[in-house]
Amino acid sequence: MKMILSLKPVSIQVLKALKDASGIDANNLASQMRLDYVVVMGAINELAEHDLGYFKEEEATELVLTDEGNDYATKGLPESRLFKLLFDLKVKEIELNELKAKATKQLGIDEKIFFLALGNLKQARWTSQAKVGDSVKVLVLKQEYEEKQEEQLLKLLNVEDPLDVREIPAEFKEYVEQFKKRKLITEKKYTKRTLHLTEIGKNLDSSKIGTLQEVTRLSTEMIKSGSWKDATLKAYDVTKPGAHLNAGKIHPVVEIINKVREIFFSMGFIEIRGPIVESAFFNFDALFQPQDHPAREMHDTFYLSNPAKANLPPDKFVKAVAEVHENGGNTGSTGWGYKWNKEIAMQTVLRTHTTATTVRQLGKAIEEGVKLPLKVFSIDRVYRNEKVDFKHLAEFMQVEGIVIGERLSLADLRGTLVEFYNKMGFEKIITRPGFFPYTEPSLEISVFSKELGKWMEIGGSGIFRPEVCTPWGIKEPVRVLAWGQGLERIAMLRLKRNDIRDLYRNPLSWLRKAPYPRL
Ligand code: PHE
Repeated sequence: MKMILSLKPVSIQVLKALKDASGIDANNLASQMRLDYVVVMGAINELAEHDLGYFKEEEATELVLTDEGNDYATKGLPESRLFKLLFDLKVKEIELNELKAKATKQLGIDEKIFFLALGNLKQARWTSQAKVGDSVKVLVLKQEYEEKQEEQLLKLLNVEDPLDVREIPAEFKEYVEQFKKRKLITEKKYTKRTLHLTEIGKNLDSSKIGTLQEVTRLSTEMIKSGSWKDATLKAYDVTKPGAHLNAGKIHPVVEIINKVREIFFSMGFIEIRGPIVESAFFNFDALFQPQDHPAREMHDTFYLSNPAKANLPPDKFVKAVAEVHENGGNTGSTGWGYKWNKEIAMQTVLRTHTTATTVRQLGKAIEEGVKLPLKVFSIDRVYRNEKVDFKHLAEFMQVEGIVIGERLSLADLRGTLVEFYNKMGFEKIITRPGFFPYTEPSLEISVFSKELGKWMEIGGSGIFRPEVCTPWGIKEPVRVLAWGQGLERIAMLRLKRNDIRDLYRNPLSWLRKAPYPRL
């Protein structure tokens, strides 16, 4: 059976309570039902929406106990207490001073209050006084013990809810006036809200009311079954702040890699990847680094025992590289003048720079007849046997580009570098003569960091030497421009991290706040 209406559980409770108490003060109903006043008003508003109930507002006067009134409401009126004392003493008469002494001692009231209490008892004719010689005697007239009627009024007043003056029973009216004079109560104006049921509300068959459960969370089941359509969805409070979400996002370092990649693409470069486990041949020999070059030492380079040997390219290339090392081959160079060892070239290493990857392209350019200029880049991992600290990692990334083309010059190299670093967000770049075994001339690159307000050396570059190019058939007028740099230095600058390890240690506190970097 479909319910004719659904209400919140609390509204149903209020509806039921009002069936016997229509017209009740909202405050009174709230305390009767042990509900918050605001909740009761919310319920009457819901009932009003369905024409079941309403509330009326009027200006009313309530009686409020003063501090003194409050004090008596808990302890009893002083006259009641004095009469009780007399009764407990089981005397018919007592000397006034004796009574006063007992009252101040046992009831803890002062002389003023004592005479006030005694006056009240006298006025009610519960006691009287007679002068006997020098002293005054208090005579008890009332035979049985009784609580004074004013106490009833005090109890009526001693509730949290306002007591509307119109609700005071007639028999208490004279005491109200008396209390006002004694300053035990004051009158206060307030807005009285009374709750009522409409005729529909009064006659409603309660079996027709369903409990309205507000849905605060949609479940898969509700969506599948379609039951959400009949549900009352809790309204959004757009003024409430939302829960803080730690949404997933791209790692800031990956973000930077993506930007660098975009810059290369925008300059017409294509991306290449090469092996991490590389032969010493491509990592060093093909780059004209002699076999006794200090960079090859174990303390700089990770050598592998498995696989212990790498395959080399076709013999003619190996031979050409060997000749360049031994005597310069047909490059016009004298070479290094030592006996080149194939075994050493076959050693396996973890790539120490991405130049090992880009140099592999030289063979491709001529062998595969690729159209020149060929522009390739690589963003990849490299490894060096470094002690890890805030500035160094043993595993890090390099960004590297080469351009193979006819009649390329140092001016082309500089132009390419300026364009690349400008796009990376470095407006000023300077190059200085540098040295790498595989380039001549070589240039060191420094950029001006706005973040640090100073020049920073960032990478190396140059034109590959004939000793590097000729073994692969690359000859004048074809030349190769190359440059490379670490990625983490840029990331540290852009992401304002002082410790390079943070980039991979991933402190959550940083990652959650890390803005998307802008290059
Ligand atoms: N390979 C060099 C390095 O690891 C950088 C470089 C690349 C220098 C290309 C010149 C040309 O620092």
